[in-house]
Amino acid sequence: MSRESAILLSTQPRSRWMRLDTAQVLKRFFFCERSLVVSMAAWIPSIAPLESKIDMARIIWQCAESAHALRNRVFELRFPNRMLEEEGPDRALIKLFGGIKDSPSDSAFLMSLTEVLLPALRDSYRAYLAVSDSIADGPTHRFLSLALSEKDEQIRVLQRWLQFQLSTEPRAREEALAWAQTVAQHLSDLGSVGIGPSQLVPAAIALAGSKTYSIPGKPSRDPRFWRCRFYWPDVVDPSFPYGEGMHLQLRSAISHLNEVWAIEAGGVILSAFADVLPWEWIHDSARWTYDESRHCRMGYDRLLSWGLKPAEIPLGTYIYESASGQDPIYRLGMLYFFETKNIRHKLTRAQLFHSYGDRLSEHDMDFDWADETIHAGYGKHWLKELLSLRREDPAAHEQIREHCGYLVGQFVNTATTAEVADIKRVAAALIAQAAARS
Ligand SMILES: [Fe+2]
Ligand SMILES: [Fe+2]
Repeated sequence: MSRESAILLSTQPRSRWMRLDTAQVLKRFFFCERSLVVSMAAWIPSIAPLESKIDMARIIWQCAESAHALRNRVFELRFPNRMLEEEGPDRALIKLFGGIKDSPSDSAFLMSLTEVLLPALRDSYRAYLAVSDSIADGPTHRFLSLALSEKDEQIRVLQRWLQFQLSTEPRAREEALAWAQTVAQHLSDLGSVGIGPSQLVPAAIALAGSKTYSIPGKPSRDPRFWRCRFYWPDVVDPSFPYGEGMHLQLRSAISHLNEVWAIEAGGVILSAFADVLPWEWIHDSARWTYDESRHCRMGYDRLLSWGLKPAEIPLGTYIYESASGQDPIYRLGMLYFFETKNIRHKLTRAQLFHSYGDRLSEHDMDFDWADETIHAGYGKHWLKELLSLRREDPAAHEQIREHCGYLVGQFVNTATTAEVADIKRVAAALIAQAAARS
């Protein structure tokens, strides 16, 4: 070979994937995460244990953050923008991931998620990190390593909830197994998630045994708590004081715990508007749902730290139910209504807790206030976006907010005399318990 035509060659595997090959695989991962977020969010109201809703909300947020990083990375790799808005050759795979939203039961949903789809994604991340180039694709390595470790934890946590669910509804086991096997078979037919080129499949296949998803009219409640619709006497009796001192500490913790409705509303609206609003909606509402789960956990944690037992603690449903049967825009409106209604009290209450020397309540309320300020912004922004998309006046978001107040009022009017008496009795007992421990 002449000196002029000599070429340097190397056998290093770094060049295995070119820039656009890399972007194609990352785009597939993005759509898989996105589909899992939408399905998990939709199922939050249906699954009963309080901690399972809290765990699910955290997992949704983690998956949405991974999806967000994947999406940004695909943009950085100069992948054609318009192609990032559609699944392209991965359409059948993504349809399968989205198909578990139509699972026939809680157990079937959890099993297909925990034993089929999450492990497939975890294995693909592991394979990607093993063979991709950590020099050229270093930015991906950083966030995908985190996503991989989160996948391991997500599978562990959800596996626990699956086993719990199967123990409470043993008759659902066979159906869940059949469903998970169907999902696994379709996944295998499609070559799993993988890191190879997309399989060109002409059309997505319908999943045998699926049941079209609908938003539950009533949310499932953890049976360990004292279950009710209206969770404190002041909800149904305006003359009942919100209270001061220990009464305020208790009332505030009960409010935080009962923000379980906001986790559910966040999940429902994330899913309901996922295909209508842009990706940023899913990203924001995943964070919103997670934040509400932290507020709920704050209240639960404080009540337990005071020695109170779940069976003595009221866990209600009225805010969730007030928006049932309505256009889901009223669930978004309901969150906005309560965020803006209560936010002005939060700092005052944090100061009162400070004056009592109750650092934990002060701490929780202070962090909650910061979160709620973000949420009020989400509510206003996305209500306006939705109204614009519907060719309605974006300024009508205030009317939606007002109508939510009306819906709650109407629902509260359905409280029976027995319900009012019961919640007064349970609240009095809880106050007495707390007083005995103070
Ligand atoms: Fe909250
Ligand atoms: Fe909030």
